[in-house]
Amino acid sequence: KRPAGAPDKSLARPVTKVGIVGAGLMASQLALLFARRLEVPVVMTDLDQERLDKGVGHAHAEIDKLLGKGRVSPDKANRLKSLITGSLGKEAFAGADFVIEAVFEEMSVKKTVFAEVEEHVSPECVLATNTSSLSVSEMASELRHPERVVGFHFFNPVAVLPLLEIVRGERTDDATLATAFAAGGRLKKSCVLVKDAPAFVVNRVLLRLLAEIVRTVDEGTPIEVAERSVAPLGLPMPPFVLMGLVGPAIALHVNETLHEAFPDRFPLSDNLAKLVASGKPGVYLPDLSLDPEVVEIFSGG
Ligand code: 3HC
Repeated sequence: KRPAGAPDKSLARPVTKVGIVGAGLMASQLALLFARRLEVPVVMTDLDQERLDKGVGHAHAEIDKLLGKGRVSPDKANRLKSLITGSLGKEAFAGADFVIEAVFEEMSVKKTVFAEVEEHVSPECVLATNTSSLSVSEMASELRHPERVVGFHFFNPVAVLPLLEIVRGERTDDATLATAFAAGGRLKKSCVLVKDAPAFVVNRVLLRLLAEIVRTVDEGTPIEVAERSVAPLGLPMPPFVLMGLVGPAIALHVNETLHEAFPDRFPLSDNLAKLVASGKPGVYLPDLSLDPEVVEIFSGG
């Protein structure tokens, strides 16, 4: 059945090579997903060799885990590894028909990245953005071919969560949207078409909850009490654990975007900003005990 709002799939163009801009945690999860499900070459790029090696290495390590669990054969594991490569220059995207960016959540950075990619790919190559909250229309606005830009928003952990928000920008054409839906289907994701509105749908709902919980802690409720109190809501993981999974910087960024759009509904938290400034990956240590330094931040330290 065609997902609501998806154009006729006969308009979809084939995807035979994928480019990924960025080699962070999200990007390496995407590299693995595209290689595993589409079985096409996937080239990652980043600003320096160290980040690139780390990103490709992370994808390869996940393939080893799949091998260890017997989910892929040794042959397939080797094939997947050879499909995922890294390159410092975006000229490695030549011949790609689908490029997705997962770089820093800053509009000017995303615009620059897409303008650079445009220099190396055909006018039909889809430019997808995994942005959590930024406007897809604005991101496309200064490109030579804004009609090939589409939002393609995954959720953490990418390999496990089935949803994919597909975002049509003001100028996205039907062929681009059809290609995005076809690719999303082959990635075995459940695709929904959402409006190009701040933080789309999922993050808008999720951040309403997270922003309020963080504020209760700002106001003096201990983190453990806040988490125990929301347990009856049946969330798949406690809110502060989820924030660690997503990354406090991303959570703050989405919250700021939403605060700007709907100031009354999305309170800001000074403590969340302090947590991000501290560079800590979350409120918990790897053994899931609370990080005392972060507790101090949240108790006004
Ligand atoms: N990376 C890759 N795979 C992971 C993983 C990770 N970080 N965490 C868990 N998994 C895999 C496990 O390996 C396991 O796979 P297997 O069945 O092949 O062994 C499977 O997921 C289930 O894991 P577990 O049995 O260990 O644990 P749970 O049943 O508790 O599930 C969870 C873990 C799927 C992460 C679940 O807790 C969950 O759904 N949490 C909520 C996640 C969520 O809400 N994400 C959305 C965040 S918003 C976002 O990403 C948008 C962005 O723009 C901010």
